[in-house]
Amino acid sequence: MIIAIDGPAGSGKSTIAKLLAKKLGFTYIDTGAMYRALALKVINLSLDPNNEEEVLKVLENTKIDLVDDKVFLDGQDVSAHIRTEEVGNVASIVARYKKVREEMVNKQRQIGINAKNAVIEGRDAGTKIFPDADLKIFMTASPEVRAQRRVQQLKEKGFLVDYNHILQKIIERDKMDYERKESPLRPTQDYIIIDTTDKTIEEVISYIENLIKK
Ligand code: DC
Repeated sequence: MIIAIDGPAGSGKSTIAKLLAKKLGFTYIDTGAMYRALALKVINLSLDPNNEEEVLKVLENTKIDLVDDKVFLDGQDVSAHIRTEEVGNVASIVARYKKVREEMVNKQRQIGINAKNAVIEGRDAGTKIFPDADLKIFMTASPEVRAQRRVQQLKEKGFLVDYNHILQKIIERDKMDYERKESPLRPTQDYIIIDTTDKTIEEVISYIENLIKK
């Protein structure tokens, strides 16, 4: 069984997908972590992410592996390093390139096939990676609530952050993810839309569990 959860940054999809996978005993696949790993390499090499040619050259010489909830970049565990705002924003830029997406999608599909039962989250899990997923969920929340959640998460990790800056970044990232040419973030008719603005994690989980039972 494949459960696809897509949605914009901060919609709650990672938290929900992780918890749901644990509860069901399914493999959790965080597709964004792979774009973030590539972004981290681009940043570490001081390259311009808007230069497609340079990014594709990096991609050719890069190995990205997802193992459980960890992501490895050229054999090194970078799971903790990819969670910054900067990496998220650069990930959104490099994720626009067709070639990058093709490579990531192929790998992600293979991981899901091997797992058999998986909760896979991202922007195109139910449109490109698994168009035949058994359940497709599109998670949203207002940009303001998403910014508040992000600020809270980053504070807990010890980062100093400004709410207005984060809100601005979320709006910019939404624009890139929704409006890009390759696999724009867009739910098809077979998605069930969940607005998490006024919902607790428990409410969302039990709602999805009921959908699975049905
Ligand atoms: O979900 P996230 O914040 O970790 O994703 C980081 C960026 O990666 C996101 O802004 C767009 C891109 N992404 C994508 O294009 N397709 C996916 N399946 C997952 C992430």
